[in-house]
Amino acid sequence: MENENKIGKRMIDLIKKLPKAELHLHIEGSLEPELMFELSKRNKIKIPYKDIEDVKKAYAFTNLQSFLDIYYAGANVLITKQDFYDLTHAYILKCVENNIIHTEIFFDPQTHTHRGISFESVISGIKEALEDAKEKYGITSHIIMCFLRHLSQEDAQKTLEEALAFKNDIIGVGLDSSELGNPPSKFEEVFKKAKEEGFKLVAHAGEEADVSYIFEALDLLEIERIDHGVQAIKSKELMKRLKEEQIPLTVCPNSNIELKVFENYKEHNIKELLDFGLNITVNSDDPAYFKGYLNQNFINLYENLDLSKDDIIKLIKNSFSSSFISEELKHKYLKKVNELI
Ligand code: HPA
Ligand code: ZN
Repeated sequence: MENENKIGKRMIDLIKKLPKAELHLHIEGSLEPELMFELSKRNKIKIPYKDIEDVKKAYAFTNLQSFLDIYYAGANVLITKQDFYDLTHAYILKCVENNIIHTEIFFDPQTHTHRGISFESVISGIKEALEDAKEKYGITSHIIMCFLRHLSQEDAQKTLEEALAFKNDIIGVGLDSSELGNPPSKFEEVFKKAKEEGFKLVAHAGEEADVSYIFEALDLLEIERIDHGVQAIKSKELMKRLKEEQIPLTVCPNSNIELKVFENYKEHNIKELLDFGLNITVNSDDPAYFKGYLNQNFINLYENLDLSKDDIIKLIKNSFSSSFISEELKHKYLKKVNELI
């Protein structure tokens, strides 16, 4: 027992000590209740909670949609460029705490432009906080803009047009929000245009919906990384392809548990995906809503599944090799990991 405790402590120390990359993080999902209250006061925007306890009680989700309803309501307090700066800066402090040295951040422009907030306020607030993070902490980053899949392709096309003025600040486009009933095929044209414009392509697929969404994301949208993708296990053909092509899956364990994709941690399939030879990474998705940042996701996995030291190292190395940084920087970061193991 004592020996087990010692090994457990050593593994948790290793998780905390190793530098990591995060590839699936919605910046709006890092809005902690404390900052939500502060911004609600600053901007005189009403929120439907009387205190922090009340917020925590409301964060009891039954599926993706039940979360999204609350997540979009929370985002209403974000108004000015300074708000987006503060939001991003708060996440960067969590990166420091979690030893995240590279992060690729999603943002949802339509969530804000539909409320009359300018695209520029959103992107410039996020970008300035990331520039400061590089200067102050040496953290590197990229920004990925996601289209809301519950809205139309025309709306996504308008958003892409607007984003072209900020092309140098946005590395890629993604697809998020309500998955069921909004398959990747709905966005074929806008992804084609984004590719022509030189954006990297990713999409949420196979979080709740079946494997056909993952096939569509790969074949119709030509994405380079799959966000979530845990339903892939239901198709042998897909598993074989993901393994052969080493297409990265940005898996978000806490999110999957909180949104009832799996009943509990013991049921999570990440170990099976990894053992099959898929390119798996661990990410926090919407950490302010899903009970923890990146290290907590790793610790929960370690404590509930039979993950070995090699598994943890592999997951962490995958996060760098699957990122959109240069080969040179990948090499530098992987070397840092190797020096600590
Ligand atoms: N899935 C889809 N849309 C989202 C998510 C998610 O996990 N988080 C924030 N928007
Ligand atoms: Zn997500």
